[in-house]
Parts: sequence; structure tokens; C-alpha cells
Amino acid sequence: MSSTKESSVEGSNMKRKKLDTADKDDDKSSSNNETSKQLNNAEQDETTTGMTSKDYYFDSYSHYGIHEEMIKDRVRTETYRAAILNNKNLFEGKIVLDVGCGTGILSMFAAQAGAKHVYGIDCSSIIEQAKKIVKINGFENQITLIKGKVEEVELPFPDNQENLKQVDIIISEWMGYFLLYESMLDTVIYARDKWLVPENGIILPDQACMYIGGLEDGNYKGERVDWWNEVYGFDFSPIREIALQEPIVDVVNGNAVNTDVVPFLSIDILTCKKEDLVFNNEFTLTAIRNDYLHGFVAYFECAFTQLHKPIGFSTSPFSNYTHWKQTIFYLRDPLTVKEGEQMKGSLSCKPNASNNRDLDISINIKFNGEYSKFNGQIDYNLR
Ligand SMILES: C[S@@+](CC[C@H](N)C(=O)[O-])C[C@H]1O[C@@H](n2cnc3c(N)ncnc32)[C@H](O)[C@@H]1O
Repeated sequence: MSSTKESSVEGSNMKRKKLDTADKDDDKSSSNNETSKQLNNAEQDETTTGMTSKDYYFDSYSHYGIHEEMIKDRVRTETYRAAILNNKNLFEGKIVLDVGCGTGILSMFAAQAGAKHVYGIDCSSIIEQAKKIVKINGFENQITLIKGKVEEVELPFPDNQENLKQVDIIISEWMGYFLLYESMLDTVIYARDKWLVPENGIILPDQACMYIGGLEDGNYKGERVDWWNEVYGFDFSPIREIALQEPIVDVVNGNAVNTDVVPFLSIDILTCKKEDLVFNNEFTLTAIRNDYLHGFVAYFECAFTQLHKPIGFSTSPFSNYTHWKQTIFYLRDPLTVKEGEQMKGSLSCKPNASNNRDLDISINIKFNGEYSKFNGQIDYNLR
């Protein structure tokens, strides 16, 4: 049984940059080639143009296609829309900040909900389109868009608000693959600490939680990882080792999950600190059937709990599709698990030292089953 409902091959997991390969799923090898070509070009460009990985990050958001994928993600966009438009009581007469406003879609929802004024900040050139969109939709007096890094700009509060240089509500869609990829939550924390009113400030969403479960995924692991063991009669196993270190972002079929799924990280966005996003957390998984376990699946949920009626969404394999899909971590060799057997684990995560938008993730497993035993750590890099 293959875990995947659909397959997409992305050598680079840069959120939404993956659009470049997403439509080429029929020909996996050409997708991979395409991705690596782009990366090679990017590296070459970096040496010739002096662009940094930060520039490439914002550049990746400058094309409308990335925003199309996000806006068409109905689970994502409709949850934000409902959180804002069904809670006009929270928005009426309030000052709102949209952190990473992109095309301005969330800013316009906030304006529609009756915000007194909305500030939207984005470093990507997509904000030039957002300015036009805001104007043609009649919100130019209600929404002010600022191009720049959140960490570097000032909000142009009116002079008569000299003593009130704060916002009542922060809205932001900052979530990356595996929730934390892209490290954009750091930016929301920065904005919160600088501008959000200290008493009764609202952040949408305000809660996030990450989960992990075991996965039967022999067919897909065979195609993606073990395939490298023998290529046209040659031993390509060094590449298998590299492939094992790269978590795969793809859609997992709920039927392939063969343990319970358990939370391993809970974030309160109203109070969390940047340091909380570097963690090493324990979990225990219990097999729900006799099966082979090829790896683990991780996903996240977000909640808007400061609303009159809290809402949220899940990126779980048991929920509707979102563009975040799920994140798969393979073991080198499968474990044979019996229903009811438990494994102790821990997952550590920290931003990569050379590019802080990438993540270094390690999964430590202790399993002493009747047919399989494993005691070790696997290191992954989500990039
Ligand atoms: C995931 S997109 C969300 C866009 C839009 N809010 C939406 O919901 O469709 C995140 C946006 O945040 C911007 N961004 C990320 N980090 C930023 C930072 N430090 N300063 C300014 N903009 C940032 C990106 O350029 C990108 O357009």
C-alpha cells in the first residue's frame, strides 16, 4: 500500500517555490532535474549577482503563482476569512496589522470586517500588485501597505496617535511546511512584541500544534529512496543516504498511518518566544495494527481561539487537502510492528546554522518489539 494520494517530487521544499515542479508529477525524473537546474542556477546567480538566500526567499514570493496556490487553498483562505468576517465585533474600529500581507487578501478581509485602519507589510515585490488591488477595490483610505522587512520598517501611524503607536489585532499567515519551515513565526513574534497592545491584543491564529505518527509507505519509499540502491546495474547508494536525510512534503493517505498520532509541540503565539522554536520533545507511539513501519508523518493544526466561537484547521492526513500537505521522515530500514507495541521517541528541531529558514530535525527512536528492535537517531534537513 502506498501512502500517497498523489505524488509530487520536489528536491527543494521551499514553500510555494515548489509550484515550479508541482504540475510535472507525471514525469518524476524530469521534475527532479528541473528543480536541481533551478537550484544550480540560483547558486550561480548568487555568485554573480550577489543575491543572498534572503533575497531569494522574498523573490520566491514575488510571482503571482505562489499566491495563487495559497489563495486557492480553500481550507487556509476560508478559515482566515471566517475568522475575520464572522467576528466583525472584534474588528470594528480597530487597528490591524497584516504581517506578510502578500497580495493583501487578509488585509482586505479585515477592512471588510470594519477595521478602522489596516497596515500590511511585505518585503516581496508582490506588494506592488497588492497596492493596485487595494486601490481598485476601494480600500486605499483604509489600508496602508508598506514594502520592507517587518524587522526594519516603521508603521506610519497618524501624528495625532503619537501616544498610541500600537495595533489591536495582528493577522498573519506565516505557517510553512512542517509548520516551522521558513522561520516566519520569528517575524510575527517580533511584530507582536513591538506593536501589539499589551492588554487583550489579538493574534489570528493564536495557537498551533504539531503531531507525529508512524507510517507504512513501502512503495513510495521504494520509488523515492531505495531506488538509488541500484540504477542501471550500478550501486548509487551514496545518493540513497542523501535522500534519506531529506524529509518529503507530500500527501499521505490516512490509511497508511499505522500508529496513533500524538502531539509533540504546542505553541501559544500570544506568548511564545523565538527560543521556544528550538526544541527537543518526547513522544510515545503505539502501533494500531500488525504492519511494517517505514517512517513517520508529521503535520500541524492551527486554531483561532480568541474568537467568540473558536475555529481552526488541520493539515492532518485525515483532513481535507491543504497546500502544506504532510511531511514524511523515512527510517533507513522498516520496523516490523505488532498492534499495541510502543516506541519511545523524541524530535528535535532547530534552524539550520547557514540558512535559518531551513530546519535541522532529528528523530530519536527506541523500539524493542517482538520482531524488530531499533535504538538510534536519524538526522534530517528540511530545505
Ligand atoms: C505565506 S505568505 C502569506 C501572504 C498573504 N498574507 C496571504 O495570506 O495570502 C507570507 C508573506 O510574508 C512575506 N514575509 C515573510 N517574512 C517577511 C518579513 N520578515 N518581512 C516582510 N514580509 C515577510 C512573504 O514575502 C510573503 O509574501
